[in-house]
Amino acid sequence: MTKKDFIPKPYESSVQQGEVTWESPSNIALVKYWGKLENQIPANPSISFTLDHCRTTTTLNFQKKENPASDFDFELLFEGEKKESFRPKIEKFLERVEPYLLFLKDYKFSIETSNSFPHSSGIASSASGMSALALCLMSLEKQLDPKMDEEYFTRKSSFLARLGSGSACRSIEGELVVWGMHNTIYESSDLYGVPFRDEVHENFRNYRDTILLVDKGEKQVSSTVGHDLMNDHPYAETRFRQAHDNLDKLKKIFRSGDLEEFIKVVESEALTLHAMMMTSQPYFLLMKPNTLAIINKIFRFREETGLHACFTLDAGANVHLLYPDNEAEQTLEFIENELKQYCQNGQYINDKVGSGAKKLA
Ligand code: PMV
Repeated sequence: MTKKDFIPKPYESSVQQGEVTWESPSNIALVKYWGKLENQIPANPSISFTLDHCRTTTTLNFQKKENPASDFDFELLFEGEKKESFRPKIEKFLERVEPYLLFLKDYKFSIETSNSFPHSSGIASSASGMSALALCLMSLEKQLDPKMDEEYFTRKSSFLARLGSGSACRSIEGELVVWGMHNTIYESSDLYGVPFRDEVHENFRNYRDTILLVDKGEKQVSSTVGHDLMNDHPYAETRFRQAHDNLDKLKKIFRSGDLEEFIKVVESEALTLHAMMMTSQPYFLLMKPNTLAIINKIFRFREETGLHACFTLDAGANVHLLYPDNEAEQTLEFIENELKQYCQNGQYINDKVGSGAKKLA
């Protein structure tokens, strides 16, 4: 599909008012998206596990206006309270998606949103938040165009979510989602995420992710600034090529179930992401002493037990501990006894791989 396929024809139906609610998960990248071109086109392909418990729930209420206005008309509530600080981000999102949703200025919207994870936990809510909002808008478009098929609905939701926050396009479906063109991945696209349809070994079923909250503060580097660091970065081209190679490696690993190889790719991806930040101009150091303490503990735990817990990182200090379902008991004990002490207020979140966003009745 190309961008043009997402520009709608005049709608057949008319809708006066209504309400729709979607619950959309966060995701954790195994091969990282870091660096972009214009319009949120990724500089390299990425793949992520869709999460299950870390979710945003968004309700969109819409009321058709007598006279369409020249501005967007919306009200924003976050966890029950007016949230003016989110307005510019939503405004910008609506501007970007307007060419693809022809009804935006015909309605007065109320957007009510809440997260399942603790407020300011340092977990980025942009992936779950933007995907939930994109899905709500698509539900309205589906009412205006009742013949729309499910595949188009899903693709376009991902396409719109991408325009809000790149990684959000990987939150619509589960369990593994690829975003960005890759030679050997069927239907992969720079415009939207697609489920990884190759064979996946049962070792990866129900894979666990415990998010160790090392630093719950505001992001030190915004995504926009972060991705821009890859423009003129001395290692950019090598890094983008490496992401393609690592996806090739993961494809084989998913088929074989080789957990040792999985660890090598995933941990190297996390460290490379941070290495890119450390070697850009300006440079950033986003790991904290406790991030390193946790990583060293994980290395030792693997050496001593022969188990397969590994870490990955986002653009921050928190650590995602990934481990197979059948090693959960010992790994959870390790977290409680040896990692919890490095988390802010001892906080961590147990999550696992999930199947994607859900529409609520
Ligand atoms: O979606 P953004 O623009 O917030 O970028 C996310 C970037 C990483 O989380 C660091 C990596 C990824 O692929 O999710």
